[in-house]
Amino acid sequence: MSERTVLVVGAGGREHALAWQLAKSPRVSRVLVAPGNGGTANEPAMENLAVRADDLTGLAELAEKRRVDLTVIGPEAPLAAGIVDHFESLGLPCLGPSRLAARLESSKHFAKAFMQRHRIATAKAQAFDQWTEAEDYIHEQPLPVVIKADGLAGGKGVVVAETLKEALSACESFFKKGHSSVLVEEHLVGREASFILVTDGRRFKVFAGSQDHKRAFDGDLGPNTGGMGAYSPSPLITPKMARTINQTVVVPTLEGMAAEDTVYKGFLYVGLMITDDGPRVLEFNCRFGDPEAQPIMLRCQSDLYEVCRQAAAGDLDEKDLVFDPRPALAVVMASRGYPGDYSTGHRIEGPPIEGLSTEGDDYKVFHAGTVQTPEGLLTNGGRVLAVTALGETLADARTRAYEICESISWPGAFYRRDIGQ
Ligand code: AMP
Ligand code: GLY
Repeated sequence: MSERTVLVVGAGGREHALAWQLAKSPRVSRVLVAPGNGGTANEPAMENLAVRADDLTGLAELAEKRRVDLTVIGPEAPLAAGIVDHFESLGLPCLGPSRLAARLESSKHFAKAFMQRHRIATAKAQAFDQWTEAEDYIHEQPLPVVIKADGLAGGKGVVVAETLKEALSACESFFKKGHSSVLVEEHLVGREASFILVTDGRRFKVFAGSQDHKRAFDGDLGPNTGGMGAYSPSPLITPKMARTINQTVVVPTLEGMAAEDTVYKGFLYVGLMITDDGPRVLEFNCRFGDPEAQPIMLRCQSDLYEVCRQAAAGDLDEKDLVFDPRPALAVVMASRGYPGDYSTGHRIEGPPIEGLSTEGDDYKVFHAGTVQTPEGLLTNGGRVLAVTALGETLADARTRAYEICESISWPGAFYRRDIGQ
């Protein structure tokens, strides 16, 4: 049967990229996106539905009403709230970890203790639930030191403190904001890479390696953001390194989760620091990376629907995922002020936006914070577009992506000029 309906939950660039790749499957005829964005609104095989990503009941009703064959969850919040448990209790196939399994992301404290229990290489850390005890401990630590809030913090829960004053004030402010626990962590030195896989709980398939750029401004300056650009592959993830990561991180993680009765199904994002002593886990995310999804999905040549269906059913086959050998690079075009305050509602202009040319043989403009209105396509968020291009080399992909960026504009658009450098 080739008339499958898929529901993608979320509204970002990652969800546009996943939905776009799912829609390419010969088995899929329709991709519903809830709530979606201006990009998914304009895709021929897609349809936006005005149900919020945190409305678990509304989403399940939608899946039942529209006879959805598979739901794929984009963001972490519905996973941490138990959307997969809810869907599965109703017999609705849904790809993602259960609420308890999603603690690998939703609780840094849980993730750290889990890694310690299962001897998975990570930075040394100590958890505190009392400010006074944390304060004493911080005084004894070498600088820089890393302070992490427990619980989802929308990318704002980590401070790499260069000074004692900064470390103390970060820690105190996390407690004041209501985080019940704070981790004080050893600062690791090395280079970062993102390692993303999909698993049915036992078997897993690894996506091409990638690298994102978290700081807002060129030269890795400015505040941390959700990600200002990304590229794939990552030169750090050689086949040998991938094997090491599989053996020392992925297998013990999946086995450990299963042994603790919290089988982990879905996408797993392993944020790594590649140090001189080998790969160390910085963080787990229980979902695909954003904006890593954009270059990875542009390169993906496997049937993503089939892979996600199998993973959700607990029945992943042995085949490796296949990727376009060409590198891909995504430049995030953002609203001035992001990740702080910014204005929205600006009309987006440019040849790849008007008409149907948001996609070519070697590029795709994925949308994030956009909305389609009768007045045109308007900005509707901090990260607005991820202009993603393929090239024979990473430098070619970068040149191509920036050419397209230059043809797109709105008042207050900004982007980094050094993605992939
Ligand atoms: P996380 O959300 O845990 O990945 O942290 C966000 C960013 O903070 C990471 O991408 C790293 O750049 C940095 N970071 C987190 N933990 C450490 C650490 N232990 N050592 C050095 N940098 C870190
Ligand atoms: N790009 C980092 C993340 O998705 O968390």
